[in-house]
Amino acid sequence: MRRPPGGCCPPALTPCSGRCARGTGLTLTLLAVLLLLLPTQHSLWLQLSRTPVHHRATTTAAPERVTRAARPPPGSRMSPDLGDTYGQDETYSSSGCPSSIRKRIGATEFGAAFLPTIPVLQWARHAREDEYQRLHRYGGAHGWKDISWDVLKSSLSLLNTSSSSVLFDIHPLATRCTRCAVVGNGGILHGSGMGTTIDAHDYVFRVNGAITEGFERDVGSRTSFYVFSTNTMMNALRSYAANGFQHPPQTPETCYIFLPDHDRDYLLLRAALSQQPVDSGQDEGVHPQEFFGEDLQVEKFRMLHPDFIRYLRNRFLHSHILATPFWQLYRPSTGAVMLLTAIHTCDQVSAFGFVTPGYRAYSDHYFDHGHKEVQFFINHDLRMEMQLWQRLQRSGILWLYTGSEGI
Ligand SMILES: *[C@@H]1O[C@H](CO)[C@@H](O)[C@H](O)[C@H]1NC(C)=O
Repeated sequence: MRRPPGGCCPPALTPCSGRCARGTGLTLTLLAVLLLLLPTQHSLWLQLSRTPVHHRATTTAAPERVTRAARPPPGSRMSPDLGDTYGQDETYSSSGCPSSIRKRIGATEFGAAFLPTIPVLQWARHAREDEYQRLHRYGGAHGWKDISWDVLKSSLSLLNTSSSSVLFDIHPLATRCTRCAVVGNGGILHGSGMGTTIDAHDYVFRVNGAITEGFERDVGSRTSFYVFSTNTMMNALRSYAANGFQHPPQTPETCYIFLPDHDRDYLLLRAALSQQPVDSGQDEGVHPQEFFGEDLQVEKFRMLHPDFIRYLRNRFLHSHILATPFWQLYRPSTGAVMLLTAIHTCDQVSAFGFVTPGYRAYSDHYFDHGHKEVQFFINHDLRMEMQLWQRLQRSGILWLYTGSEGI
């Protein structure tokens, strides 16, 4: 049964009225060069992506517990640089759903990689100096290396309500199962007629250039969670404006899940929650209302924990790129982080519009004008992600829409 709007977030007021796409320049030169250096069967392009969120936190200001010798993922001895130890979040007490993913995953090939206490979200509780010392060692989306303590503290401290620590309410005593539809932007959805099926889930996740208007029959119209990094959202606004992407979904039920890649994510979050334009950095002067609408209450925002992104990279998408000099550029794609977030929070997950072995038959996106080849990016490993979706499907963890491929 479908949850009434507001199940995640209270209603928003006004949709974005102005011109929402204010792209900012991104220098792709370095990666364009790498693109020529790394062998691959397909043309490589650069895209920055974005990601998802999670459940309930219990304690308040107790020092973060850290995994000691967490079970190593199968067959790997990880370099200390990769940081395969994590904080612990007991929030995700099991739901009452008898067939939840968390109850089943231990018996699958993913049992050794899965950490039940991995923190999925970060919020005010994590704005502590000891935590800053621990995470300052890891760059990009994997830690806080590139963020000053002042920006971090002032930003995370605003995520201070009970909603900040969970994606949605979980009911340990209820036996109903939370069913999530996770919608990628793949061309396989074009003409699929899956819109009604997608919208019938309890929650609908979307990412980056998630255009629903005009595509409702194929992709549905609801968005419970929009997953992004500031960089990937800006890129999507610039790249897909001509396809009709004017701003992220702004429905009353929509919550926004930051995948923080840079300090600009913390700065945009701080701007949104203090209802001010961004006050520094490359987005200085940008109004958060352009992206998220006029209703900027704290309940509409979540932020993924760097431990979660690092854990996904280390244990689920440990790409060969990590063994090259370019390893620091690599992270799971925003779409992959979104899907793995759902797998760590929902009881059941259906994935639509994710890459399948038959990808050559489809355009890159469902909203493309004409056929565009699927793009592979140097900072992600989409081939490995495709194989992961196949393995999760075979393990019964995921239901994957495969169109007419009939897998
Ligand atoms: C959250 O932080 C804001 C800004 O500092 C403050 O006004 C508010 O009272 C805090 N809310 C809670 C629940 O602590």
